[in-house]
Amino acid sequence: MNTQTRKFPDGFLWGGAVAANQLEGAYQENGKGLSTADVSPNGIMSPPDFSMTQFNLYHEGIDFYHKYKEDIALFAEMGFKAFRFSIAWTRIFPNGDEQEPNEKGLQFYEDMINELRRHNIEPVVTISHYEMPLGLVKNYGGWKNRQVVDFYERFARTLFTHFKDKVKYWMTFNEINVLFHAPFTGGGLLFEDGQKNEKDIYQAAHHQFVASALAVKAGHEIIPSSQIGCMIASMITYPYSSRPEDMFAAITQDRKTLFFSDVQSRGYYPTYINNYLYENNIKLEMQSGDLELLQNYTVDYIGFSYYMSFVASTAPEHEASRTSGNLFEGVKNPYLKASDWGWQIDPIGLRIVCNQLYDRYQKPLFIVENGLGAVDKVEEDGSINDDYRIKYLAAHIREMKNAIGDGVEIMGYTSWGPIDLVSASTAELKKRYGYIYVDRDSQGKGSNNRLKKKSFDWYKQVIATNGENF
Ligand code: BG6
Repeated sequence: MNTQTRKFPDGFLWGGAVAANQLEGAYQENGKGLSTADVSPNGIMSPPDFSMTQFNLYHEGIDFYHKYKEDIALFAEMGFKAFRFSIAWTRIFPNGDEQEPNEKGLQFYEDMINELRRHNIEPVVTISHYEMPLGLVKNYGGWKNRQVVDFYERFARTLFTHFKDKVKYWMTFNEINVLFHAPFTGGGLLFEDGQKNEKDIYQAAHHQFVASALAVKAGHEIIPSSQIGCMIASMITYPYSSRPEDMFAAITQDRKTLFFSDVQSRGYYPTYINNYLYENNIKLEMQSGDLELLQNYTVDYIGFSYYMSFVASTAPEHEASRTSGNLFEGVKNPYLKASDWGWQIDPIGLRIVCNQLYDRYQKPLFIVENGLGAVDKVEEDGSINDDYRIKYLAAHIREMKNAIGDGVEIMGYTSWGPIDLVSASTAELKKRYGYIYVDRDSQGKGSNNRLKKKSFDWYKQVIATNGENF
């Protein structure tokens, strides 16, 4: 084999990824409206608290809103080539349905992007990451309402127009498949009897597909050189055994994720979903021209997060041994170890996912999230020896490199939470992903000062050698 093929290409986008609601704080500053995250004090998998009486760590985050210059300087010191972040919809359109954007909101992101550019860091923008204006939930019922497509399109067009000279890489929805698992976070959907309503979920998904296609259309018109991707929480499910039933259960499980990238990348509803909708008497409301839009405005690349793999089994005795993580749940894999939060660690799974997605779509991949959530300890001398994190990341980078050797085209790697931030599933700060430690706990106490962990210099070296040393 030609060993030269196992190399990261020049211009590979090394960096880190964050989401506005998990680190900015300043949740009511400069005209920002309330978002779904602002009423989700217990994270994305738990019911919202509209009374807002519970303590909500998202409200203050790690105060990136005021500290971004300091933080970006640290990213630059690590040599970041790219920084993935989201734009809080509610900073730009506080209730979601305004005609004109909030200039102060645009100004914040403009200043932040300028700061990134000053350090030669490429901004990678997620248009919508796990939040939407609460006004669109209360007054329109969230994404099941077609009008939300228009509001999103206005939001996306505003961003493309405003940042057209500064941002080339975009993603339309973070982990769009979250809709199946956390419909309030993914789609602003509330169900009266607490039972998920499948029709509403599929209808909201359809609206998001149309919105995503309209964003691709607008983005390409306004910024001809732009690259606009989808973003899925990737899923690889192994059959527990070689029983054909288990294999089919694994395929069925993965289709819950691939449905989304199939529509966004191939441009049409896959037959397995059409048949499912038909058999379950779910009739989607579509407007004329919707299917053409999906077909004509597919994404340029496949963005995805990868943290873990799962196992499917149809054998009843495996029902008891289930585990969950990053939206999904499945049977425990006896061959894998798990993080303290039960997320099964599987670096080879990343190579498999890369091959699977590339075989399926033949479009460049962008690994926009990966990392280990762990408890870190600050030693008396201020050092933080996060060797476990280095081990996790190194093993995944090795498999990403192997995937490149397999012929997969990968544009970049932005690990999750380069600086500690509030977790999405559990809304705590105890679970940390960063190279940079933030002195703040889950109750919001601490100096909020930043400290470099051992992994800081390690990642710096990975980037400096373009993935040769890790
Ligand atoms: C992804 C999300 O699901 O996983 C992020 O896009 C999230 O927003 C990340 O933070 C890690 O999950 P958690 O629950 O550990 O924060």
